Amino acid sequence: MQEILEKKIFDVDEIRKDFPILETLSNGRPLIYFDNAATSQKPNSVINALSDYYRNYNANIHRGVYSISIKASEAYENAKNKIKEFINASSEREIIFTRGTTEAINLITYSYGLENIHEGDEIIISEMEHHANIVPWQVLCQKKKAVLKVIPVNNNGELVIEEYQNLLSKRTRIVSLCHISNTLGTINPVKEIIKLAKLNNPETAVIIDGAQAIQHMPVDVMELGADFYVFSSHKMYGPMGIGVLYGKAELLEKMPPYQTGGDMISRVSFNGTSYNDIPMKFEAGTPNVEGAVGMKAAIDYIESIGLKNISTAENELLAYASEKLNEIEGLSVIGNAKNKASVISFTVNGLNAFDIGVMLDGSGVAVRTGLHCTEPLMDRFKIAGTVRASFAFYNTKDEIDVFIIALKKAIEILS
Ligand code: ALA
Repeated sequence: MQEILEKKIFDVDEIRKDFPILETLSNGRPLIYFDNAATSQKPNSVINALSDYYRNYNANIHRGVYSISIKASEAYENAKNKIKEFINASSEREIIFTRGTTEAINLITYSYGLENIHEGDEIIISEMEHHANIVPWQVLCQKKKAVLKVIPVNNNGELVIEEYQNLLSKRTRIVSLCHISNTLGTINPVKEIIKLAKLNNPETAVIIDGAQAIQHMPVDVMELGADFYVFSSHKMYGPMGIGVLYGKAELLEKMPPYQTGGDMISRVSFNGTSYNDIPMKFEAGTPNVEGAVGMKAAIDYIESIGLKNISTAENELLAYASEKLNEIEGLSVIGNAKNKASVISFTVNGLNAFDIGVMLDGSGVAVRTGLHCTEPLMDRFKIAGTVRASFAFYNTKDEIDVFIIALKKAIEILS
């Protein structure tokens, strides 16, 4: 029933009116925004929620006895409640606001990692991770003389699960993987991955980087069984500078604070300090209240469109663009996983991705070019970089047609 309801109301022309930036020009041409994996555009409801906050109830939270401070505090807590419901966490206590995915992973490494990782312990990541899910673990391994192990990726851009099983050992303490690859679009079988880690050792902490998944598909952290799940607001139509660390309460309660200062304390004296309960133990200082307000508005917006509608529309765009791109001579799509989100990376024989990106920009088409913060993955495929087009539900097949014409023209000129 819900599905039918969602199907009926999806009208891309109407939806596009919600995003003012989609009506703008870029280099004199209508903007065609295909860099949604880098950041998504913002609907009016999010922009208005931010403006409303600053116009009507901007105040510091948890500190004022006056009305607008109480209203701002309530809005902040309501946002946590919304996020808890959205990812099906068991309590708001498991929702910690961070600056984004990167800070959430750093919080885990510096708090959980420093406490629980010892010499000779092993941490498993994969070849398709974003630098944000590589470098913090490298630093931790160096500090603790621990071992970083890497799951390989096959030629289609899928994780080799048998190799993952071989890497699991008695010393595995952490497994940290992306739900969806930002470069390849591969949707990883995270439920199975978590299950295998827990079968090997129920104490292994599994972290899922959901930065590229949360905006495309329903995420149920309890069903997945993830210990930690992290994501950013700006990739899900919300404001920049805020993201979420979901963590199981039993783990968060045992973890030491990552930063210290106001709001994260219970009692401070020169003889010693006791800490606040979770989640505030991990939220030192004045938080990003407008970010929380905007993120709630973004989730409300996603729910008004429906995640089923979103994934159906994006899958259609992916299939259409893949077909058109595969017809271009000399073009190779990097990442052909069976289970894939609306991200397409490609190379063109003899041409530099950057040059193609610049030419596309001249036609109003915004794509990302280069390493996409996944340099080891580029090494794996022995390439210097890719052009990446990533679609959101507000994109259209007409835009893909313009992109394909502009791309063919760019290839002709650059060849
Ligand atoms: N992580 C973002 C991307 O993939 C910035 O483009």
